[in-house]
Amino acid sequence: MSLLSLRGVTKRRLAPGARFELRIDELDIAPGERVALIGESGSGKSTLLDLIALASRPDEADRFTFQADTAASDVAGLWQDEASDALAILRAQHVGYVPQTGGLFAFLTVFDNIDLPRRLLALPTDDTVERLAERLGVADQLRKKPATLSVGQRQRVAIARALAHGPSIVLADEPTASVDPATADIVTDLLLAQTQEHGAALVLASHDWGRVERLGLPRIAPDIAREQTSDGVVVRSTFARQP
Ligand SMILES: Nc1ncnc2c1ncn2[C@@H]1O[C@H](COP(=O)(O)OP(=O)(O)OP(=O)(O)O)[C@@H](O)[C@H]1O
Ligand SMILES: [Mg+2]
Repeated sequence: MSLLSLRGVTKRRLAPGARFELRIDELDIAPGERVALIGESGSGKSTLLDLIALASRPDEADRFTFQADTAASDVAGLWQDEASDALAILRAQHVGYVPQTGGLFAFLTVFDNIDLPRRLLALPTDDTVERLAERLGVADQLRKKPATLSVGQRQRVAIARALAHGPSIVLADEPTASVDPATADIVTDLLLAQTQEHGAALVLASHDWGRVERLGLPRIAPDIAREQTSDGVVVRSTFARQP
């Protein structure tokens, strides 16, 4: 069984003088699997994460299923039917997202930031936030606002928030790009350990080849083709698992 199964998925980005096309012929991600998403800047890592996060509509999809529970959801069909409510519910329940720069709400305390995905789903109040904060080393920061935390602390809060509602998959978009190497090691280790502890799959986007190499994760990478046309440049990025 695959958590995610994609066949023949295309996403186009059109901008004046520049066209970008992301293509996935075949990609499956198993429940609880951890995989690195690598590729140079502009190759489409964030675009692919947005597709997997059910946040961005594919232009074509022969097959796009998401199976977090017993029944698989036909994501391609939901986009086709413009079933944005159903997609939003799937996303809220099953996806955790760690953006490059934390993406915390400045006006909420650290506690409320971590608790937000649970509140959106009306999950019962328990000790989840405290427990996660403890494990991620930010238990003493819960009453502060994000602006008063270090960048590394903010990244750890973002990881706690991504896990708080027990998602099936965590998508981390270069979560260590803005921290020093030592903090990056800590943040990456916590991300790996915590997703494993929660049984969540992880897609870790990174252009830090050395770090990905050291982690020994299976890799998804793009094959990039550039074509000069009369309308400008067309970049085609085909993502696949590396052998
Ligand atoms: N909203 C948009 N409209 C038009 N083009 C876009 C849009 N967002 C991204 N693109 C283009 O899509 C391509 C892929 O961008 P994307 O952000 O997915 O790359 P990336 O691999 O995440 O890069 P980085 O490592 O710099 O974060 C780029 O050519 C970018 O210019
Ligand atoms: Mg990106």
